[in-house]
Amino acid sequence: MVTRPRLYSGMQPSADSLQIGNYIGALMQWRELQQSYQAFFSVVDLHALTQPNDPAELREKTRRTAAQYIAGGIEPSRATLYVQSHVPAHAELQWILTTLTGEGEARRMTQYKDKVARYGKDAASVGLLVYPMLMAADILLYQTDIVPVGEDQKQHVELTRDLAERFNARYGRAFTVPMPVIQRETGRIYDLQNPTAKMSKSAESDAGVLWLLDDPAVTAKKIMRAVTDSEGSVRYDRQAKPGVSNLLVIYAALTGRQIPAIEDEYAGRGYGDFKKDLAEVVVNEFAPVRERALALLADPAELDRVLAVNAGRAEEVANATLADVYDKVGLLRRA
Ligand code: AMP
Ligand code: TRP
Repeated sequence: MVTRPRLYSGMQPSADSLQIGNYIGALMQWRELQQSYQAFFSVVDLHALTQPNDPAELREKTRRTAAQYIAGGIEPSRATLYVQSHVPAHAELQWILTTLTGEGEARRMTQYKDKVARYGKDAASVGLLVYPMLMAADILLYQTDIVPVGEDQKQHVELTRDLAERFNARYGRAFTVPMPVIQRETGRIYDLQNPTAKMSKSAESDAGVLWLLDDPAVTAKKIMRAVTDSEGSVRYDRQAKPGVSNLLVIYAALTGRQIPAIEDEYAGRGYGDFKKDLAEVVVNEFAPVRERALALLADPAELDRVLAVNAGRAEEVANATLADVYDKVGLLRRA
């Protein structure tokens, strides 16, 4: 049997719905990669605890995020799709990794520094400081070869590599050293109302965000109202025409067409036509995914069962790595 290389990625359950950036930048790639890699995808609910959450809402967002992975094409019989907290080894390996990380090293992480700058030293919890070691544990437990993530997570994957190498050198080889696969800049989606800011689940205004679970009429309306410019030509120019360029990127990503071909098609036509067609493209892409997600959410017991089966598969791999690590660092085995 040929074993496929391993892939790991995850997303926080930080909203009721994914946005189109998550869909194009993460899910569409994941569903492609699950064919050639042995893929593990988690809903990282433990990471989500580093932000304030209503407990009932967190539970609901966790289910909804998992349902949208499946609805978007992650096959839970092919890839291993599970909830991070269902596999206790993640928190256990995190502890070991914190003992290998310098305090200064942790404090140098950009994401941590940004949050401290934004919320202040006391509002930023120790959980936020050790967040990258939990992410490293996610990745290292599965002997992961590649980690597809956005640019903002690259530094955390670099830290993961350092920790894997450090452990292997100090205690003997327990971990595969993973490679980050960073999303291309051209794959990034921007806010429809503020097209120089990355589209984000935590955007201030809803009008600039295309939610996967939005009603199709709402999706179409948001696209028709997207910020453009006064030039009137459908042309890609990230600097001069960020709004139109962003719409072109979405159009190209969802249709698999090249941007120049789309520019040609709309040459001499106004933004209205272009937006109307784009709205149709997005609605046609999202509608079946949305229906499937809502159907999965209508039967939470079945969804929970699928997640439990997948957590069982994840646990087999994770526990083997953790047992090896515990042995190597010198923890006494329970008789
Ligand atoms: P987040 O929930 O914001 O942490 O995003 C999870 C993943 O979705 C990221 O690692 C990216 O791969 C992808 N993603 C999020 N926002 C965007 C965006 N605006 N454009 C492209 N990809 C995105
Ligand atoms: N920290 C990542 C983010 O915010 C999510 C994440 C957690 C992750 N564990 C991971 C991504 C492991 C890749 C691999 O986007």
